[in-house]
Amino acid sequence: MTETTADHRDSYPPSAEFAAAANADASLYRAAADDRDAFWAEQAERLHWHRKWDRVLDWSDAPVAKWFVGGELNVAYNCVDRHVLDGHGDQVAIHWEGEPGDSRDITYRQLLDEVSQAANYLTELGLEAGDRVAIYMPMVPEAIVSMLACARLGLTHSVVFAGFSPTALRQRVDDARARLVITTDGQWRRGKSAPLKEAVDEALYAHGDVPHSVEHVLVVRRTNVEVPWTEGRDLWWHETVAQASTEHEAQPFDAEHPLFILYTSGTTGKPKGILHTSGGYLTQTSYTHHYVFDHKPGQDVYWCTADIGWVTGHSYIVYGPLSNRATQVVYEGTPNFPDEHRHWQIVEKYGVTIYYTAPTLVRTFMKWGREIPAAHDLSSIRLLGSVGEPINPEAWRWYREVVGANTAPIVDTWWQTETGAIMISPLPGVTAAKPGAAMTPLPGISAQVVDEEGKPVQRGETEANGYLVLDQPWPSMLRGIWGDMERYKATYWERYAEQGWYFAGDGAKLDADGDLWVLGRVDDVMNVSGHRISTAEVESALVGHSGVAEAAVVGASDATTGQGIVAFVILTAEAKDTGEALIDELKAEVAREISPIAKPREIHVVPELPKTRSGKIMRRLLRDVAEGRELGDTSTLVDPNVFEAIRASRA
Ligand code: WTA
Repeated sequence: MTETTADHRDSYPPSAEFAAAANADASLYRAAADDRDAFWAEQAERLHWHRKWDRVLDWSDAPVAKWFVGGELNVAYNCVDRHVLDGHGDQVAIHWEGEPGDSRDITYRQLLDEVSQAANYLTELGLEAGDRVAIYMPMVPEAIVSMLACARLGLTHSVVFAGFSPTALRQRVDDARARLVITTDGQWRRGKSAPLKEAVDEALYAHGDVPHSVEHVLVVRRTNVEVPWTEGRDLWWHETVAQASTEHEAQPFDAEHPLFILYTSGTTGKPKGILHTSGGYLTQTSYTHHYVFDHKPGQDVYWCTADIGWVTGHSYIVYGPLSNRATQVVYEGTPNFPDEHRHWQIVEKYGVTIYYTAPTLVRTFMKWGREIPAAHDLSSIRLLGSVGEPINPEAWRWYREVVGANTAPIVDTWWQTETGAIMISPLPGVTAAKPGAAMTPLPGISAQVVDEEGKPVQRGETEANGYLVLDQPWPSMLRGIWGDMERYKATYWERYAEQGWYFAGDGAKLDADGDLWVLGRVDDVMNVSGHRISTAEVESALVGHSGVAEAAVVGASDATTGQGIVAFVILTAEAKDTGEALIDELKAEVAREISPIAKPREIHVVPELPKTRSGKIMRRLLRDVAEGRELGDTSTLVDPNVFEAIRASRA
């Protein structure tokens, strides 16, 4: 067994060979330190601006930033038209790989045609800049086309992960007041078609007569399942968009025009609609994709395995790579369909050079065995990326050795839905990497690790309980929570209001060399397979079941998924404790209410929950129980004996 512990002396400096050809060099750090605004202005020059900005940053209305004030651009033009006009229309933008084995290569010229058709048809539907469009789709090309068509028209898209339930979709459609939903008939899930259009209908109609904002549902045919249909409201993509003209001229929008809303879990049950705008967001996604992945247009074949339903899909499948004229793989299915070789077959088939995934998948690959990747020629891979959760050193070393032939640099990229783009990461060819460490803020980004009072924690402090803060605004920062500015301020800016810092919600430490290690969430947000799920959301789904009086949910460490969801429930007097059957029913309830990804790993029926005298549930103690540890301090509990009963429930 490989050593699992983190060691700050275990460092991988860049090879001379990689450094010689790298996009980045150390001068970036110096330039950014000399003059941050000038540095970001230079990065913004990567894009095409219809009108140049007057001012780089206006922070006078903090914590709402304005970047590239007065500038005008079209995000889709930057991701598509520009490359065709520059003579790269025949370059493949997307090698699309369907789950059943069908595939499609889409060039930049074809992408432009399809985006133009969609833009023309959405205009015909009467949609206007500023309107919201919900996109509830699996990983099909039309999902990316839809996002780009919205961007092209100044419509604000809200992509809802296609694994989310009708209830979750409805909540998001209502919050954003979306006028249009774009979806597919069904989605492939390990060879079976799961209905999706039906889920949209359930979202819109299952609430009885509660009116919704949706005027039309646009449906892409994918799995050929039968779908419920409402004449006049529902429209087939192939009968409408695909018949529209391919001529469309992109109009410029203000740099601060809203680009998208993406819902993410917070500490309460209600998801937050994170709002991103155009110029700053595209500047930083483009900049980071270029330098952090050392991406070379026309040479690299890039593959980010995320889903467009998450921010990683937005920033590192759609906007970053396409703005940089990437040729990329987009894969529709799961890594083990039809078998565990699928990803490596795809790497071989397309000669993937840059591969970006989540630690949970690396650990799954480890479990499946190294002989699986070893059966394939992975020699095209020259850089590996990690995102979504801390990567344990053992997985890091395996990733580098087995997938990266012991030579590929690994970029461990820390960022969030809220930050919009990568913030902390090694720079390949420039800085060293350590297994498990995100290392240093990128040039132009400023972060600190501080204590409760805001005092910087010392380097090498092993017991450090540090919090990660961002002490300077950055171009792709969120501009607020949709419809709730107060919550925006309270969530991110209140904790260090005096200093004016952004509180990320993550614990962190600095090692003896001053390199940064992110340790995981310090709030009530769990991280399961890189997905953010709030304890409150799962608790509210559980108490939604008539048999549950009270529920407490914690994230317990899990060897594969990072954290697993463990729930403790008290039943109502009327409820019948039917043992396993009831537990299964409760798990199914959570899957139905939120998504299968939120399904608890364990549910324990307990007579009581541990509470402080003020009535707060002691999650810390429940986590101890869930992880099988000795109990921490129980002195503030009303009744320390409740643990005897809770432990008994786990036996
Ligand atoms: C965690 C995903 C450690 C962190 C892009 C953060 C990480 C949350 C890393 C955001 C990393 C993400 N090392 N932890 N490299 N990357 N995280 O919004 O807890 O889905 O706050 O964005 O994931 O998750 P989100």
